Amino acid sequence: MKTAIYPGSFDPITLGHLNIIRRAAKVFDHVIVCVMTNVAKTPMFTLEERMNQIERVVGRFGNVSVDSWDGLLVAYAARYEEPVIVRGLRALSDFEYEFQMSMINKKMSPKLETVFLAASEKYSYLSSSAVKDMALYGADISEFVPCEILTDVEERSKNRR
Ligand code: PNS
Repeated sequence: MKTAIYPGSFDPITLGHLNIIRRAAKVFDHVIVCVMTNVAKTPMFTLEERMNQIERVVGRFGNVSVDSWDGLLVAYAARYEEPVIVRGLRALSDFEYEFQMSMINKKMSPKLETVFLAASEKYSYLSSSAVKDMALYGADISEFVPCEILTDVEERSKNRR
């Protein structure tokens, strides 16, 4: 059984993330969406809130589960037998960061492979940060986030305005 780990901060999950999850679920036997801490970001939602949001969204897939981890990705990956890390690549600008991250992970765990899925053109400009920015200023974000979590983002943004 081939397991893929799709790590990210998912603050919040967007339709771009969901597109990657849907496609990874076709390629791998089991996809674990792992909500993690990115030390460079201050999250809008707690780890538990993000996990709960993703669980509501991925309930439709039979082979996708949700987990969280507050540590190194390689330590999480070590819990599985030959897992593959999946990351989405939106544009060339993502490449440097993603390449560095995969190399660092490979240095710490030489057997760990990272696979990149090219983002669908439709979502190539989309990011959680852009969604939060739009929501904070009251813009309509319904085209960018799964409907199951739309109210969560709108409500949290309203309280921060
Ligand atoms: O969605 P993001 O914010 O781009 O995801 C980045 C994330 C959370 C996958 C990355 O920051 C991460 O792997 N954090 C865990 C700590 C770690 O393993 N760091 C070493 C790789 S740079």
